Amino acid sequence: MSKEIDLDTQPAGKALPWFLTITGLLTIGGMIAMPFLAGEPDGDKMPDLVRFLGRFHPVILHLPIGIFSLILLQELLGMFSKQKSPRGVLPIFIGAGSAVAAVIAGFMLYHGGGYEGSELAENHLWSGLGFACAAVVTMIVKAWSLAPAASQVFYRLLLFSSVGVMGFASHGGASMTHGTDYLTQYAPNPIRNALGLEPREKEEKAKPLEEQIVYADIVQPILNKRCVQCHKEGKIKGKLRMDTYEMLVKGGKEGSAIEVGSAEDSNIVYRAELPEDDEEHMPPDGKPGFEAEELAVVKWWINEGADPKKTAGELNLTDEIRAAIGKLDLAIGKGEVAVKEASSDQPSDDLRATVAKLGTDFPGGLTFESQSSSSLTFTGVSMRKNLTDELFTKLAPVLAKMVAIDLSATSVTDASIAKLAAATDLRMVRLSETGITDASLDTLAKLTKLESVNLYGTKVTDAGVKKLIALPNLKRLYLWQTAVTPEAIAEIKKALPAVEIVTGI
Ligand code: HEC
Repeated sequence: MSKEIDLDTQPAGKALPWFLTITGLLTIGGMIAMPFLAGEPDGDKMPDLVRFLGRFHPVILHLPIGIFSLILLQELLGMFSKQKSPRGVLPIFIGAGSAVAAVIAGFMLYHGGGYEGSELAENHLWSGLGFACAAVVTMIVKAWSLAPAASQVFYRLLLFSSVGVMGFASHGGASMTHGTDYLTQYAPNPIRNALGLEPREKEEKAKPLEEQIVYADIVQPILNKRCVQCHKEGKIKGKLRMDTYEMLVKGGKEGSAIEVGSAEDSNIVYRAELPEDDEEHMPPDGKPGFEAEELAVVKWWINEGADPKKTAGELNLTDEIRAAIGKLDLAIGKGEVAVKEASSDQPSDDLRATVAKLGTDFPGGLTFESQSSSSLTFTGVSMRKNLTDELFTKLAPVLAKMVAIDLSATSVTDASIAKLAAATDLRMVRLSETGITDASLDTLAKLTKLESVNLYGTKVTDAGVKKLIALPNLKRLYLWQTAVTPEAIAEIKKALPAVEIVTGI
């Protein structure tokens, strides 16, 4: 037999245990030094490579979990069937190695930002690191205990404790990703009792709007839908959590997120109302933000005192707010609040074919509003100045189906907007930073379904904008950085009191 180091079979003297001991201890030292040497996490300054590698953490981590579960299972079978422990150090070598890789990637993810000050994240970091160290030590001990007369007791003890720490670390990581009640959310009541959890309510009873708690039943679901993915425990952008009332009041770096009684002074409203291309606009990076109704409801709740417990009936429930709540498309609206029904208006094959064909001219720009809708939305934002009037004419066959169009910062002019006369279903149009003028507003003033018009940074004037008073459904009008005067704005507000006019003043 050769005397080479063979990870898989009998040990060849003491070379292998010594080799694993030395590399193992160095690895442990390196891992423990990592958090101390790296300093405070600082996402924005991290090189992209670190952030890129960090994203592999959720992929790699399943490897050590699988391998250690298998090793444990084999060991248990060995114990109870009076067989010897499986020989060979290769599986545990791969298991411990992948645990180390998962820890390093996880650490990069943590440093990529967003987890600052999160206790869950810190606990997970240390327990994951603890597991990787325990895994390496277990590997070292396994290597020594492969000697013919060595006792297995110490190794087994270590293996069981490592797997214990692994379970703890995995649970912490899963809680960060899915929320702490992910596993138990739908648990049947006997199981909930055994775990000491509150029993689950039978069926959510339909509650009339007046009896719904505005914060819990309406406002928080809106925040959950639009904001919480980046502002929650374990992912706290701007040091602000928006998943509980207490955290909203506590606020972030810039102080409380809500100013009781004054929506205008509340940071969440302020950030959401900034023009979409403002760096501080929330949510960032073109993620879908509040719908007009959602914002109206949030503002109403804050203006009415931002109470965490009061029902809609206890607040001043105007017809507009009632209508706005009715339009909310959330997993709320039990009872009398109608949830927007997904229209079962399937697109015709012709329309599908046309849309598919236009995909070559406007890659990713033209999409159906939802899977079961023949309504279309269009965005030319990624094409920027390449979207010209000439190219725009290609959309003519589908304009009648269009409900939302974003032409911000493209080259289109009044000539294209004149064609929008055919877009009679249009509810939202963004023309910010385009060369359009008052001439376009004649066309827009005829599109009576329009709810939101963004004219930020255009040459429109008082005379043009006043024409929009003709729009019965108008809810939001963006006039930031235009020549429109406060007098004209006051006039529009008087004619259309429900309209939200965003001017940045
Ligand atoms: C895609 C992730 C993301 C989403 C979604 C998101 N935010 Fe943010 N938010 C951030 C980041 C990143 C910061 C920190 C940078 C900054 O202050 O602009 C931040 C900061 C903030 C701040 C400042 C907190 C402080 O005190 O410094 C407020 C307020 C805020 N967001 C409100 C909202 C609201 C309201 C929504 C939902 C409409 C929302 N965010 C959705 C990523 C997000």
